[in-house]
Amino acid sequence: MKEILLATKNPHKLLEFSQALKPFGYHCVSLEDIGFTDEIIEDGTTFFDNAYIKAKTIALKYNKITLADDSGLVVIALPEELGVKSKRFSKSATDSDNNTLLLKRLKDVSDRSAYFVSQIVIYYPDGKFYTYQGRVYGHIAEEIKGINGFGYDPLFEIEDLNRRMAELSREEKNMVSHRGNAIRKLVKDLKNEVITL
Ligand code: IMP
Repeated sequence: MKEILLATKNPHKLLEFSQALKPFGYHCVSLEDIGFTDEIIEDGTTFFDNAYIKAKTIALKYNKITLADDSGLVVIALPEELGVKSKRFSKSATDSDNNTLLLKRLKDVSDRSAYFVSQIVIYYPDGKFYTYQGRVYGHIAEEIKGINGFGYDPLFEIEDLNRRMAELSREEKNMVSHRGNAIRKLVKDLKNEVITL
């Protein structure tokens, strides 16, 4: 198995990437695994900027090809409030407070459409990089449901499936999610030898 360094401390993201990349012979190693404890300042204004900052910082520090994902929820009725700022939507920034605040902000709002974005950047120590974006469309339900996943998963109802993301197993989530869709684009390039890791 080849190792791939993932610039994340999020255990859920680590599991999702690990599961998706394992069939292709990759074992994911997280920032925790390599003892990186500093904060990376994600001060970009786009998902790409932040994924690029994370991947480049770690790739140059450890001289290793590094994969980063920056992701978030875009809610059409709240264009300025989430997106790249999804993690810090509520003051405490906990998943539970973020979900409660989202329900409050959408009270009496009829257009509850939303989508998740995952932007992956793979950065090589020589300065080369590749990027992939995946999305999943749906809407914000009126109450939380489901216990799997993380973040806004209990509120996000997937288009056409009529199920919350948090009701899916990790395998099922990877089949439809923004991160799964971005990873599939990356895997296609790996298979076609457009990129090597
Ligand atoms: P970051 O990509 O680690 O900067 O944070 C993204 C934030 O967006 C997370 O803390 C969650 O609030 C939200 N998010 C990203 N991906 C997902 C997902 O798959 N499910 C639910 N929430 C997500």
